[in-house]
Amino acid sequence: MFKWREDFSVNIKIIDDQHKELFRIGNALYDIVSIKDGIDRYDEILEALYSLRDYAIYHFDYEEQMMKKNDYPGYFEHKKQHDEFIRKVKSMDEESIDKDQIKASMDLIIFVANWIENHILKTDMEYKDYLNNKGIF
Ligand SMILES: [Fe+2]
Ligand SMILES: [Fe+2]
Repeated sequence: MFKWREDFSVNIKIIDDQHKELFRIGNALYDIVSIKDGIDRYDEILEALYSLRDYAIYHFDYEEQMMKKNDYPGYFEHKKQHDEFIRKVKSMDEESIDKDQIKASMDLIIFVANWIENHILKTDMEYKDYLNNKGIF
C-alpha cells in the first residue's frame, strides 16, 4: 500500500527517515484493516490511526521548523497543506468507522496514502534544492 521509493528522497536523511516511518505506520494500519477474520478491530484500528496522526504532526512540525529556520519562502503555503491534512484526519468520523470498519478505514487509508505520496512528490520536493543548497542533507 505505502511504498517508499528512491524518487521520494528529498536528499535530507532525517526527513527521508521520517517519511519512511510514516509509510511504515500507514502499512501497519493497512495490515490491521486487511485481516478478514470477522473480529471487531475498532480499538486497534483507532489506535493505529492515532499513531499515524500523531507521527504526521511530529513530522510536519519538524519540517516546518526546518523551513522556518532557513527562511524558506514557501513556508506558509506548505504549512497550510500540513494543517489541512491534520484537520481532515482529526475530523474522521469515529462513528462511521465503528459501523462499517473495513470500508471507512480503507477509504481513509486510500486518502492518506494518496495525500502523503502527492505531498512528498510535489510540495516537499519544492524545498529539496533550496535546503540542499544551504548545506542541509
Ligand atoms: Fe514531509
Ligand atoms: Fe511537508
